[in-house]
Amino acid sequence: MRIGILTGGGDCPGLNAVIRAVVRGSQPSGDEVVGFRDGWRGVLEGDAVTMDLAAVRGILPRGGTVLGTSRTNPYAVEGGADRVLATLERFGIDALVPIGGEDTLGVAAKLAEAGVRVVGVPKTIDNDLDGTDYTFGFDTALGVATEAIDRLHTTGDSHHRTLVVEVMGRHAGWIALHAGMAGGATVVLIPELPFDVDAVVAHCQRRFDSGYSPIVVVSEGARPRDGDLVTATGERDPFGHVRLGGIGTALASLIEARTGRESRAVVLGHVQRGGTPSPFDRVLATRFGLAALDALHAGESGVMVALRGTDIVRVPLGEATARLKLVPVERYAEVEVFFG
Ligand code: F6P
Repeated sequence: MRIGILTGGGDCPGLNAVIRAVVRGSQPSGDEVVGFRDGWRGVLEGDAVTMDLAAVRGILPRGGTVLGTSRTNPYAVEGGADRVLATLERFGIDALVPIGGEDTLGVAAKLAEAGVRVVGVPKTIDNDLDGTDYTFGFDTALGVATEAIDRLHTTGDSHHRTLVVEVMGRHAGWIALHAGMAGGATVVLIPELPFDVDAVVAHCQRRFDSGYSPIVVVSEGARPRDGDLVTATGERDPFGHVRLGGIGTALASLIEARTGRESRAVVLGHVQRGGTPSPFDRVLATRFGLAALDALHAGESGVMVALRGTDIVRVPLGEATARLKLVPVERYAEVEVFFG
């Protein structure tokens, strides 16, 4: 079998581990692996490279993706779907393994419906893909965010100021929720639950009153219940997502004005996405890669490999991309116990 592989959307620690697992795992059956560069762009334009053992040597601990990535959407390009089919024909590709989030796998689902043999692999540091308990990349991002919060506690307390940490999470607050709980945040704000500015200020004030300084962890996609605190540039990517950023800075100024104490914002941004994957993410990514191969050998198509408990299972791509996995209110209630 000739297998095409690609990585699309935002990069994510662990992508190389999946690529390596597919290439290494395909050796015994004699499958060939072709890597398309920069996600769906490489498929649209027929930009590909042979992925043999030499191509994957040493990449397990490396962040990013050796194949490159982009947010190219073939369905937003005139004749895009036909160009994708033509490339697959030209390269003699029997099956595709797209590694991506909701957007990349949304394209995969449409291609599967069009008759292409596809087994998707979920990735996103946001952990918001439905159908899987965890995506790889999340654990690494969480480690970065938690370490940052640990460090900010000591400098915040020394200067008696509020530190607002803005973390990634466009639609879902999983990074903020977990990092806020692991790091002992004063308040955690997530996109799923618009926040009350007065309550945030009151939590910060209470923290100051107890002799310590507040740490506010806010997802980039979080919004206040009322008012128009900030926060997007207005630019959109090919999947229609607005470029976010700015809620942390806006919130820090507001908290400073309302508490009368100095405040600073720290935007973790792409630091959360870069660098070497955690052992958990390397293992999950490797298992996903092997499971994708197994699914292809079992004749599957239109499915995504997923983690359920400790097992790797297959779920229909359509089901996995139909909605995002958001933070449930009861999970937020757990972290709320520690506010103030
Ligand atoms: O989807 C993952 C993600 O990291 C989001 O949390 C964030 O909004 C977005 O990617 C940032 O994308 P870009 O790399 O285009 O700035």
